[in-house]
Amino acid sequence: MSGSGRLRPINRVFPDAVRDATDEQLLEWYSVPDRGTAWVRFNFVSSLDGAATHEGRAGGLGDAVDQHVFTLLRRQADVILVGAGTVRAEGYAGSLLAEADRRWRSDRGLPAHPAVAVVSGSLNLDPDSGFFAQAPVRPLLLASAGADAGRRRALAEVADLVDTGTEPARMVAALAERGHHSIHSEGGPVLFGAFQAAGLVDELCLTLSPVLAGGTGKRIADGVPEHALQNMQLVHILESGGMLLLRYTAARPGT
Ligand SMILES: NC(=O)c1ccc[n+]([C@@H]2O[C@H](COP(=O)([O-])OP(=O)(O)OC[C@H]3O[C@@H](n4cnc5c(N)ncnc54)[C@H](OP(=O)(O)O)[C@@H]3O)[C@@H](O)[C@H]2O)c1
Repeated sequence: MSGSGRLRPINRVFPDAVRDATDEQLLEWYSVPDRGTAWVRFNFVSSLDGAATHEGRAGGLGDAVDQHVFTLLRRQADVILVGAGTVRAEGYAGSLLAEADRRWRSDRGLPAHPAVAVVSGSLNLDPDSGFFAQAPVRPLLLASAGADAGRRRALAEVADLVDTGTEPARMVAALAERGHHSIHSEGGPVLFGAFQAAGLVDELCLTLSPVLAGGTGKRIADGVPEHALQNMQLVHILESGGMLLLRYTAARPGT
C-alpha cells in the first residue's frame, strides 16, 4: 500500500522524478488551464497493441491505479461528456463520484457532482435504465432535432435535450453556455474521432496498460478519416507497476 493509501505507488518520471505522488500532487499535475473558455480533455486506456476494448469493454484494460487517477479527473470536471455507445457498453448508472470526491468538490464551492452530458444521434437509450433512473444530476442529452419524436418525448422526461446535432463545436458551445468549461470526456472512440476531426481536442490523457489484447477491438479513435497530423505536446509521464499514464495537450499557441 502506498503512502497515499492506494494499492501501488504512482511515480512521476517526466518532467522530473517524483516518487509516490500524493493525490494533491496528482490533482496539481492534471489541473486544467483557466482560459475563460472551454477546455476539452479526453481520457482513454489502451493495451500496448492499441486495443481500447477487451471483451467489449474498457474496464479490463485498466486497474485500480488507473481507476484512481480517472476519479481524480472526474473530480476536476465541470461536466463529464460521454458518447451513447460508451453509456450502453459500460452500463453507467448512479453517482459517478464517490462520497469523498463529492465532499472534495463541495469543500471547494463546486457542485457536489459534475454535470453529465451524453451524445446520441439515434436516441437509442432506455429512459428507464439506471443511467437515467439513478442519475445523480439530471443528464444533458446532446441530440439531433431530427431524431425519432417518440424517443425524444420519452427521454425529455428524464433528461434535458439540447439539439447540438453531430458537430462537436456546437456541443462545446452548448456546454460552455451552461458554464461547463472544464469538459472531461470519457469517450468513446466515435466521439473522440469526431472531436479529433473537428480539431477540438485540447488534451488527451492516455493510460498505456502493460498488456497485449489481440482481437479486433477498436482503437481509441474510430470513424475518423485520416487527416493532417496533429501535434501533441507531452506534459507528463506517470508510472505505476509498468502502467504509463501519459498527459498530452494540443500543441497550439496559447496552451
Ligand atoms: N478504452 C477506453 O478508455 C474506452 C473509453 C470509452 C469507451 N470505450 C469502449 O468503446 C466502445 C464504444 O465505442 P463507441 O465508439 O461506440 O463509443 P461512443 O463514442 O461512446 O459512442 C458512439 C455513439 O455515440 C454517439 N455519438 C458519438 N459521436 C457523435 C456525434 N458526433 N454525433 C452524434 N452522435 C454521436 C452515437 O450514438 P447513437 O448510436 O445513440 O446515435 C454513436 O453511435 C465500448 O466497448 C466501450 O467500452 C473504451
